Amino acid sequence: MSGRLPSIYADPGLYDLVHAEGTDDEAWLLDLLAHDHGCGIKTALEPACGTGRYLAALLRRGYQVEGYDAASGMLDFARKRLAGWGKRARIVRGEMTKYRPRARFGLIFNLLSTFRHLMTDKEALAHLKLMAGALEPDGIFVLGLDLSKYGEDQPDEEVWECRQGGRRAKHVVMSLPPETDTRRERIINFVTSKGAVLESSYDLRSYSADELQELIGRSPLKIEAVYGYDGKPAALHGPETALWLVLKRKTE
Ligand SMILES: C[S@@+](CC[C@H](N)C(=O)[O-])C[C@H]1O[C@@H](n2cnc3c(N)ncnc32)[C@H](O)[C@@H]1O
Repeated sequence: MSGRLPSIYADPGLYDLVHAEGTDDEAWLLDLLAHDHGCGIKTALEPACGTGRYLAALLRRGYQVEGYDAASGMLDFARKRLAGWGKRARIVRGEMTKYRPRARFGLIFNLLSTFRHLMTDKEALAHLKLMAGALEPDGIFVLGLDLSKYGEDQPDEEVWECRQGGRRAKHVVMSLPPETDTRRERIINFVTSKGAVLESSYDLRSYSADELQELIGRSPLKIEAVYGYDGKPAALHGPETALWLVLKRKTE
């Protein structure tokens, strides 16, 4: 595992609560992108799948799914969530830099800047290579991440409240912009629930549009299309920095 995992990932129930909103809409968008750009095979793989929230939504859309993650608590939570789907759902332990799936998939996706947990070019390229090798011919890999504009990025703070069943939580996420030389964006999370405060701070690797383009150029993948998080077409070097990239295998 690349470094210690953020402590928010050790409480899958709380993680799931604060990320639940919008999950079905994003699964709808993934399915649409697979339909528009992919090969029509309804199998999906999610690296670093966490609680399996996207996988559950894709199962309801007729997919057969596989997910892997490095955190035991996340794996237990995802396995329990998907237990009723039998052989249509597989959850396994795996590292983004090492896990080589046995099957091939029409859709692979890695959203929410999770790819930015990989802190070196070597790790990032290893992941892109493994995922390229797990794509069906003409399958797509959707990579969702926030890009940096060095020198222009400002410290940011987002606050939202959520409620699910009888549980409520307030989530505050602060971020400190990265520097060009270190390429580390500091993320500070506070989640309050049932009177307790869970604090979690960690670094994510930053990418400018040029840095991401250069990295993908060295991988077996190419950029097929670019969208904003809202599903509207966008450009890698455009004003929008929260992007979903649709990647495909380069043709030999
Ligand atoms: C932001 S969460 C995303 C979870 C899920 N994909 C989602 O969008 O809800 C990041 C996940 O990545 C996992 N993770 C972090 N580094 C990892 C690595 N090197 N290999 C595998 N999983 C990793 C964590 O355990 C956590 O579940």
